[in-house]
Amino acid sequence: MDSPFILVNLKTYQEGMGSNAHRIAAAAETVARETGAVIGIAPVFTEIHPMSHHYAIPVYAQHIDAIAPGAHTGHILPEAVRSAGARGTLINHSERRLTLADIDACVQAARRLHLESVVCTNNDATSAAAAALRPDYVAIEPPELIGSGVSVSKADPGIIERSVNAVRAVNPDVKVLTGAGIQSGECVKIAVDLGTCGVLLASSVVKADDPEAVLRDLVSLL
Ligand code: G3P
Repeated sequence: MDSPFILVNLKTYQEGMGSNAHRIAAAAETVARETGAVIGIAPVFTEIHPMSHHYAIPVYAQHIDAIAPGAHTGHILPEAVRSAGARGTLINHSERRLTLADIDACVQAARRLHLESVVCTNNDATSAAAAALRPDYVAIEPPELIGSGVSVSKADPGIIERSVNAVRAVNPDVKVLTGAGIQSGECVKIAVDLGTCGVLLASSVVKADDPEAVLRDLVSLL
């Protein structure tokens, strides 16, 4: 199989902005280069360009709006994300929920612009619905475990397994990520053993005193 994918969402954490974002991106680049793991980051919008310019890692937007260029104020234009250097985008994160119609429109916009789409879901039913829209990835994240320090891999492996099965039944080409509380190589290994192709995580890396050490641990059992 391909190297598992570790996608670090920097959210709007203070610890993930400015020089802190550079520190995390540099750590991701180093660990990816030395281990062969694929490690991406999703910084705040204004840092997509510097991150993609300075570091040899894939950079993702945290959100796009399904709009075309024109008279829209305060929106995130998919074309702008693409030209800033993003490889892809999160869509429908638990902290940025969309309607099903909007998710569909965002996935279509991403496909048109050759941006990878990562649609976040909260259970196996929504994972199946998301898979029907043909994104590149579905990322299953139980909301109650996000930022909790309790890993979905250990607390609720069943939701990962059910989501993988639900997605495969709808569209076997759609890859599955999982997230919420992911913090160690053991969490990542469980997720991969359950059929996902990697993890989406935030706080354990972003808030760490030593993000590089956490990243090394995350990929240590692969
Ligand atoms: O997007 C990743 C996220 O929602 C999980 O957050 O802090 O539980 O790793 P965290």
